[in-house]
Amino acid sequence: MLTIALSKGRILDDTLPLLAEAGIVPTENPEKSRKLIIPTTRDDVRLLIVRATDVPTYVEQGAADLGVAGKDVLMEYGSDGLYEPLDLKIARCKLMTAGAVGAAEPKGRLRVATKFVNVAKAYYAEQGRQVEVIKLYGSMELAPLVGLADKIIDVVDTGNTLKANGLEAQDLIATISSRLIVNKASMKMKHAPIQALIESLRQAVESRQH
Ligand code: ATP
Ligand code: PRP
Repeated sequence: MLTIALSKGRILDDTLPLLAEAGIVPTENPEKSRKLIIPTTRDDVRLLIVRATDVPTYVEQGAADLGVAGKDVLMEYGSDGLYEPLDLKIARCKLMTAGAVGAAEPKGRLRVATKFVNVAKAYYAEQGRQVEVIKLYGSMELAPLVGLADKIIDVVDTGNTLKANGLEAQDLIATISSRLIVNKASMKMKHAPIQALIESLRQAVESRQH
């Protein structure tokens, strides 16, 4: 049995067509079902529906053999206990700093609100800059508007969310897409089926680029 961890929303939406090209189709709609384990048209493949930030945990611990996670989530998770064999080139966005339009740099210590606490600390440490990182779980764009922080670090795609809140993108931290991740022990123990799946997905990704 191969178990694949996916999160609902854009990762599921963008991954299902790739899995379909590899001959794997869920037998019920994961977006509608209340079930968290979803069988597929292949008897030896099932899907686990988990939160986006939990995908690396399920895969590293071996509760799932494979998973799909945003590079932002993987950077924040920060473990080398996973293989990352394939860039699926889906859910593309940028991880950026952002602040209020035209705001001056604060005189004292910079306050940065984000759900990417580890990424934020590493980013500013590399610049030799002292910052206070404020952990939030969502609606980061609000923080500079109400004086909770000077800047945020979040993913940006169209920039509409920033714009709607009077913020502007500033520095690029990383370009982001979602990656296939694989449990290290599974890669050894289930080498043939995993390798076959990676190759099918690789072909599906490549055929889209042309
Ligand atoms: P949760 O909803 O569980 O808190 P989440 O908001 O991170 O998690 P999604 O919004 O589904 O989950 O995002 C999944 C991944 O898609 C992110 O990790 C990121 O890599 C990418 N992503 C996030 N926002 C966008 C966007 N606006 N455009 C393109 N890709 C995005
Ligand atoms: C994501 C992210 C930003 C927004 C950026 O939120 O957290 O708020 O997309 O996209 P944009 O630059 O195109 O506006 P999402 O829409 O996924 O909602 P979420 O907060 O539920 O993840």
